[in-house]
Amino acid sequence: MKISKTTNSKIHSTDFSNLPFGRVFSDHMLICKYKNGSWGESEILPYGPIDMMPGTQVLHYAQSVFEGMKAFKNSDDEVLIFRKEENFKRINKSAERLYIPQIPEDIFMEGLDNLIALDSDWCKKNEEHSLYIRPFIFASGECIKASASDEYTFMIITSPTTRYYPSDINVLVEQHYTRAAKGGVGYTKASGNYASSFYPTKLANARGFTQVIWTDSVEHKYIEESGTMNIWIRINDTLLTPELSDSILGGFTRDSLITLARENGIKVEERKISIEEVLEAYNNGILKEVFGTGTAVTVAPINSITVGDKKIEIESQINSYASRLKKILQGIQNGSIEDIYGWTSKVNTVVSSQ
Ligand code: COI
Repeated sequence: MKISKTTNSKIHSTDFSNLPFGRVFSDHMLICKYKNGSWGESEILPYGPIDMMPGTQVLHYAQSVFEGMKAFKNSDDEVLIFRKEENFKRINKSAERLYIPQIPEDIFMEGLDNLIALDSDWCKKNEEHSLYIRPFIFASGECIKASASDEYTFMIITSPTTRYYPSDINVLVEQHYTRAAKGGVGYTKASGNYASSFYPTKLANARGFTQVIWTDSVEHKYIEESGTMNIWIRINDTLLTPELSDSILGGFTRDSLITLARENGIKVEERKISIEEVLEAYNNGILKEVFGTGTAVTVAPINSITVGDKKIEIESQINSYASRLKKILQGIQNGSIEDIYGWTSKVNTVVSSQ
């Protein structure tokens, strides 16, 4: 792997106390290209513009997938990446569905470790701080025929981050637009899934909502996700989360929370949850918590849900399941709680340099 270090680091001019999500990028990026049926040599170079012709396929047909992952610093200043094997598997699962070639494990893992080792100073130890990692693959061939590309580019960029949502989360149940349909690509991190969510989200934002709750595309009766998060409902002492399907993204924060909840004696059910069931639980006084999970947000309590013209407010609970589970999860992520699950991996130092 070729590594060219920046001679003009931005780290000292970066205000780490003011990091709007996704707007600040670390010094380096990884790039690897696929041509003539195989992946070439990876390169790490200073973060900067990439060449692209107007006929580049991704610009026309959105043949592109991405991942969201996070690294944390432990008290010994070591960097821990959370569940990287899962992200590696999922980017290839997404790639398969988008007819993008599989990225080999050594290119993904060595690129990731070297990049994070090089920019480890961008990963801060402060509470709620982490380094958000964005691997992505896009169709980089130059052709506007509506067909899969024969050239692709794999990249990793990173962005220091703190909280995703700075304030309360008030959501609207979306009963017209759809995020994902049966047989579609909702279970993947296809870039287009997010593009098509922006318009309904903006309509909801204009009405004062933070996000929407996506419902199933057939009846708009069952809840699926909220914004970019998996969603959780606590009824009495049971945590419910929608069962995975081809229209729901299988988040690793979701998966981790299921394990942590069960290990901590909390009953978890993965199943269909109707809006009606949530409203009924509210009316019966047994709707205790609603929250979302995702790499970017970790665990985020939802303060209100609006269905049509009915708004239900969810009172915050002392010692809520959301806050208890978030604390344990964050402890594992930053190394202050022993990781008995093998979820975290220490970043190896840079293996080669040029
Ligand atoms: C993540 O939580 O990793 C996401 O995918 C959210 C991202 C779209 C900002």
